[in-house]
Amino acid sequence: MSNSETRALNAERMRSLLGYAVLAPSSHNTQPWRFQITDNSISLYADRTRALPVNDPDDRELTISCGCALMNLRVAAAHDGLGVTYNIAPDSNGEDLLAIISCNEAEISSLAEAELFSSIEGRRTYRKRFKSQEVPNAILGTLCEAATEEGAWLQVLESEETRQNIVALVSEGGSIQWSNPGWRRELAAWMHPRRRGDGLTVPGIVAPIAQAVVRTFDIGNGVGAKDKQLADESPILAVLGTHGDSVADWLSAGQALERILLNAHSNNLQASYLNQPIQVALLRPKLQKILGRAGHPQILLRLGFPTDKIDAAPRRSLDEVIEWQ
Ligand SMILES: Cc1cc2nc3c(=O)[nH]c(=O)nc-3n(C[C@H](O)[C@H](O)[C@H](O)COP(=O)(O)O)c2cc1C
Repeated sequence: MSNSETRALNAERMRSLLGYAVLAPSSHNTQPWRFQITDNSISLYADRTRALPVNDPDDRELTISCGCALMNLRVAAAHDGLGVTYNIAPDSNGEDLLAIISCNEAEISSLAEAELFSSIEGRRTYRKRFKSQEVPNAILGTLCEAATEEGAWLQVLESEETRQNIVALVSEGGSIQWSNPGWRRELAAWMHPRRRGDGLTVPGIVAPIAQAVVRTFDIGNGVGAKDKQLADESPILAVLGTHGDSVADWLSAGQALERILLNAHSNNLQASYLNQPIQVALLRPKLQKILGRAGHPQILLRLGFPTDKIDAAPRRSLDEVIEWQ
């Protein structure tokens, strides 16, 4: 086979791996990533034109979302029999280049990661009520290990008092966010019809009407009551955190988050988010204090067994996120 034929084959293979990377979760479904493909490597860039300056002023969640895409890429490459090495871009503070991933047939692929592949397409953010069924401790142990393997930690909230204190912070955070017209405008701007391929789709409601409601009214009380009920009833509430709070830590948090979510799905669980006490800067130290441990909370998850199957959220086409070198 000629060199150019080999290159074309490699490029096609990389493109197919990226088809799985983009199925990762991202805040407001912004899909804030770009990929540059060279011969045997893929560079992952943050797409800051898709940032959420009010909800996420430091691009922390944006970077976590890119970390989730990196995890999917690692899993898909392992499943394809490729060994993966990746370097987190040095000095990536404020730079768009986040990581360079090399895929190599000569290296041994990771079995543990390959096993998660079948969950990439079935994972969903499940915002409805879960079954009341308890989650076995063995599964929780696997989820905690998944976090540790990526250099992060997962703390399952065990005592009722801790859960109640944190649920109160979720409500407080929600009220603060909904009372901010800038935050509501930003949310409304990412409520899109499904055909747009990104953003939050609103089932059963015409997007412009939903946007107008969110932009105009502080519906924090109603949303807060629903979140509180969901949190109270969730079999599991857990906080994902990191030891530091740098760009590299956020990338680790993203990889840990997706590793947890894929592991959860392979055990028939789904998850959704109650991130308000982390997104609202003044509440984050309070959450840290309630948890009573060193480190930085990054994501607050609720987990449980879903009662039904829900549609996948839309994604942009690969051509919009890939650049060829
Ligand atoms: C870092 C991060 C933060 C998120 N925060 C929230 C959140 O606060 N509330 C929420 O309902 N969903 C949140 N999500 C979930 C996204 O909205 C969801 O991933 C996106 O809409 C795509 O849907 P999918 O996960 O079903 O593919 C978050 C996802 C990520 C990765």
